[in-house]
Amino acid sequence: MSQLKQMSHNDNSAPSTPGKFKIEKSPYFNRTRWHSSLAKLTLWSFAFLAVILIFFLRSPSSSASLPTDPSRRSLRTYNWGGSAWEKRVRSSARVRSRNGMTVLVTGAAGFVGTHVASALKRRGDGVLGLDSFNDYYDPSLKRARQALLERTGVYIVEGDINDEALLRKLFEVVPFTHVMHLAAQAGVRYAMENPGSYVHSNIAGFVNLLEVCKSLNPQPAIVWASSSSVYGLNTKVPFSERDRTDQPASLYAATKKAGEEIAHTYNHIYGLSLTGLRFFTVYGPWGRPDMAYFFFTKDILKGKPIPVFEAANHGTVARDFTYIDDIVRGCLGALDTAEKSTGSGGKKKGPAQLRVFNLGNTSPVPVSELVSILERLLKVKAKRNIMRLPRNGDVQFTHANISYAQRELGYKPTTDLQTGLKKFVRWYLNYYSGGKKAVE
Ligand SMILES: NC(=O)c1ccc[n+]([C@@H]2O[C@H](COP(=O)([O-])OP(=O)(O)OC[C@H]3O[C@@H](n4cnc5c(N)ncnc54)[C@H](O)[C@@H]3O)[C@@H](O)[C@H]2O)c1
Ligand SMILES: *[C@@H]1O[C@H](CO)[C@@H](O)[C@H](O)[C@H]1NC(C)=O
Repeated sequence: MSQLKQMSHNDNSAPSTPGKFKIEKSPYFNRTRWHSSLAKLTLWSFAFLAVILIFFLRSPSSSASLPTDPSRRSLRTYNWGGSAWEKRVRSSARVRSRNGMTVLVTGAAGFVGTHVASALKRRGDGVLGLDSFNDYYDPSLKRARQALLERTGVYIVEGDINDEALLRKLFEVVPFTHVMHLAAQAGVRYAMENPGSYVHSNIAGFVNLLEVCKSLNPQPAIVWASSSSVYGLNTKVPFSERDRTDQPASLYAATKKAGEEIAHTYNHIYGLSLTGLRFFTVYGPWGRPDMAYFFFTKDILKGKPIPVFEAANHGTVARDFTYIDDIVRGCLGALDTAEKSTGSGGKKKGPAQLRVFNLGNTSPVPVSELVSILERLLKVKAKRNIMRLPRNGDVQFTHANISYAQRELGYKPTTDLQTGLKKFVRWYLNYYSGGKKAVE
């Protein structure tokens, strides 16, 4: 059992609709102190419940059609605002190094977001997180990452990137110089179950964020996560930034591709500085439970068979696995080289920077080799269930050409799969089973 899992969190779960109900400003709460009389206490409790009830009945977001969509449902249960909250936000975003930046990291309770936010904080930048803590995968892992960030001084505001009032408030409290936008609906196969969540976070949410950013004065520079999946069914390797990206193999890929086009538009019309990063299969400690390296580890330890895909004619399925620390260096390189946005208050003043980079490892590894490495590290033989690669989103292989990122960002991955998986497995065993099995 990890220490982190036992730590308590101060989630404030009072029901509210963002931006409309702020406890500290409400006349019902400020004026009175608690009275010792039981009758008065009861009376006030009823008044409190009545106010909340009336509030909910009047709230537009509690209309009957919404609760079926989990991503929308989450929009109305956050609680933010008030002077104590603003103080926390400001303190998290305080810059501690000379020439440091102030960065809003969306998706900060996510795998990549946690690592990027903590790296920025460690070098003295001001960092504030934003995350909806949705339950696409086990939210307790997101809470544990939150606890980790809390200890480095990063506060994660709980909210949705679709919440315009919240975003405006955050920029009012802290004039962020940069946005590191990592919040998204990730995963390829989940789109068949919940297509709306991809549109909600990757398209509507991204547009909402850009709308707020374009109207600011000054506008922040934005670095955001696209994906290697935009290369879709391409067969020419390695994948280079100039290659075609018009044949996505999944709705996830299509929403990331749409994001790249939307970025072009906001750069062109409003002068926003925008850098898209096409990540190639990122893995490492605190990773995502929906990814193969993660659930293979889990299932191998449980003695459960794992699906190992192969293409037609026993063709190899391979991925350009990229270790999280390398990705973090790429993200920081992109932030450090991002030029200022040129517009202000919704008006473009001149051309602004628009970039897209591959962030990969440049050495694809067959999935069967991934399994063999895991077997060695776990000292358990895997039950391989060889299956044909289904045509529901996954592509046969990915391979990044990173020479552009190398030249512009100084990006140079240094961790091979064997080394990176060893670190992942060490973390995994420690987090889930208290390190009972040793890895050497
Ligand atoms: N991990 C990879 O291999 C990989 C590869 C390519 C691209 N990416 C992209 O990198 C980014 C980070 O990925 P990750 O692996 O850390 O995923 P993740 O799911 O661990 O992190 C994303 C975080 O965003 C949050 N989020 C989702 N929708 C939100 C919304 N509407 N409002 C606020 N928060 C929201 C989630 O709660 C989650 O914590 C994503 O944009 C993803 O698409 C990741
Ligand atoms: C890699 O990309 C660069 C552009 O950044 C290009 O000049 C080069 O030809 C590409 N290399 C390969 C092997 O495709």
